[in-house]
Amino acid sequence: MASPVRPTALVTGGSRGIGAATSLRLASAGYRVGVNYFSNRTAADAVVAKIAADGGSAFAVQGDVRDEARAAHLIEQAAPDGHLDALVCNAAAAAFTPTPVSTLPWADFSTKLTDELAGVYTLVQRALALMEQQQRGTIVFVSSTVADGPPAPGMAAHGTAKAALNTFARFLACEAGPMGVRVNVVAPGFVRTEASAHMPQALRQQLADRAPLRRVAEADDVARAVAMLVSDDAQFVTGTVLPVDGGTTVSRM
Ligand SMILES: NC(=O)c1ccc[n+]([C@@H]2O[C@H](COP(=O)([O-])OP(=O)(O)OC[C@H]3O[C@@H](n4cnc5c(N)ncnc54)[C@H](OP(=O)(O)O)[C@@H]3O)[C@@H](O)[C@H]2O)c1
Repeated sequence: MASPVRPTALVTGGSRGIGAATSLRLASAGYRVGVNYFSNRTAADAVVAKIAADGGSAFAVQGDVRDEARAAHLIEQAAPDGHLDALVCNAAAAAFTPTPVSTLPWADFSTKLTDELAGVYTLVQRALALMEQQQRGTIVFVSSTVADGPPAPGMAAHGTAKAALNTFARFLACEAGPMGVRVNVVAPGFVRTEASAHMPQALRQQLADRAPLRRVAEADDVARAVAMLVSDDAQFVTGTVLPVDGGTTVSRM
């Protein structure tokens, strides 16, 4: 008997942190997962090997999501038969160092904004072209509570960039809805990954104490929320920004 065809997903920045956890979750939900990475091939291969060991299907795919040509090629590699069911735009493609606006050059501020949006724009355009033909598909952006939460010191560029991402997702949801395509956002608070490893333990503890659920997030907490939004359990959910922060945002209201 022929094995059933797996739906296909592309996870950008799928090699580490939230993206790796998301790749594992989607694979266990039955997706064939394109695990995108930027430079860490070893990490991407480890995610692919773990998925294979668990009986799933995945492949590593290199590419800078900010690069228009590479992003277009990524979609082609992830969907060689022209079929793509899910796109998760997670890559931490817009590097930043927390800096007050007073000392942040315009060039750095604008690069941060441009990189954040460039990291999703072409992928979304190319994915939508396929999903429109299918009249089905789902897109999830990984944003941050810093976009809509209380302005954290030094985070103006990051927060403004992620806020732009949230707004872009809302416009997309309206444009893509009639194509049968859902577009949603997850907004994590602090998540324990390599990217956040520099945060002092005392500050981490403060964040945990402030959260109604009394801990900080693991990458898999975010991955579960992404998998839920990708799944048919969220079949009538589009245009939302879902905080994944243990209740921290709501406890400050
Ligand atoms: N960690 C947090 O506290 C936190 C909180 C809120 C939101 N977020 C968001 O969650 C997302 C993932 O963050 P993370 O903490 O999981 O980061 P991470 O552990 O540093 O992983 C970053 C991932 O992005 C990939 N990447 C970086 N630049 C790329 C590029 N130009 N093109 C393609 N892939 C690229 C990396 O690939 P390589 O392995 O090849 O380097 C890696 O897979 C980001 O959008 C971040 O803003 C994180």
